[in-house]
Amino acid sequence: MASTTPAPDARLIAALRAARDVMVLTGAGISAESGLPTFRDALTGYWATFRPEDLATPEAFERNPATVWAWYAERRLKARSALPNPGHLALVTLERWLSVRDRRFTLVTQNVDGLHVTAGQANVIELHGSLQKVKCFRCAEPAPTWDETGKPPRCAHCGGPLRPDVVWFGEMLPVAALNAARAAAERCDVCLSIGTSGMVEPAASLPRIAAQRGATTLTLNLDVTDRATPPRFEVRARAGAFLPALVDAVCGIGAA
Ligand code: OAD
Repeated sequence: MASTTPAPDARLIAALRAARDVMVLTGAGISAESGLPTFRDALTGYWATFRPEDLATPEAFERNPATVWAWYAERRLKARSALPNPGHLALVTLERWLSVRDRRFTLVTQNVDGLHVTAGQANVIELHGSLQKVKCFRCAEPAPTWDETGKPPRCAHCGGPLRPDVVWFGEMLPVAALNAARAAAERCDVCLSIGTSGMVEPAASLPRIAAQRGATTLTLNLDVTDRATPPRFEVRARAGAFLPALVDAVCGIGAA
C-alpha cells in the first residue's frame, strides 16, 4: 500500500477548476477504506480466494443457487452496514461545487454496494447493478421485498428463483446505463478513474474513450495501471486520502 499521499498536481487542479463536464469512473478500490473487499487485490480481493465462475455467472447460479445466493446475501449485509469514506464524500463535494456553477458531473460506478448514493452523490450510474436489488432468474421481474433465507426465495410472479440484480460475467450491462456512461465519457473534459484495475470491459474503455476525445485523465489506485494508453496523470495513493486533498484544492477557500 502507498505510504505517503502525493500532493495533487497543479495542472490537474486547474483542469478540474476549468472543466465544464466531469466524469468519474469508480471501482472496488474506492470502497476498500469502508471495509469492503476489492476483487483483484492480492490476498484481500474476492478473486484471490474464490473463482468468479463459481459465484458470478448465470451458470454458477444454475449449478448451485444456494451457494451463490448466500455469498451475495453476505455481501449485501456487509454493504448495508458499511459507511461512505472520505473518498466518497470528496466526490459529493466536487459534484456540488460543479453543479452550483452549472457544470456537469457524472459518476459511473462498477460497484454494487450503493455507497456513492448513501454518501449523497446525485448523478450516479450503477453499471453493474446493485446488491440491494433482487430480480427473478427466470422472468427478470424485480422483487420489491424478499425473505433473507439460506436459499433463493421464489418469485411472486412465476415461482422462479430470485437472484441479485447485479451483472454477472457473460451478461449484458443495463443498456440505458451503458449508453449514458458512454455519452458522459465522450463529452467530458476531465475523467477521473478511481480504485479500478481496468480489467473488466466495457467499463475499462470509458477513460480511454474520454482520453481519445481530448479529456484530461487521472488514474488513481494502488498499483500500476494499463501502460498501453497511459493516463495523463497517474497517482498511486489511497482514494480516501488523495481525493479529499484534490477536492479541497479545487473547491476550497480561494477557488473561483
Ligand atoms: P479490482 O479489484 O479489479 O481493482 C481494485 C483497484 O482498486 C486496484 O487497482 C487497486 O489497486 C485499487 N485500490 C485498492 N484499494 C484502494 C484504495 N484504498 N484507494 C484507491 N485504490 C485502491 O476491482 P474493480 O476494478 O472494481 O464485476 O473490478 C471490476 C469488476 O470486476 C467488478 O465490478 C466486478 C469484478 O469482477 C462484476 O462483478 C461484474
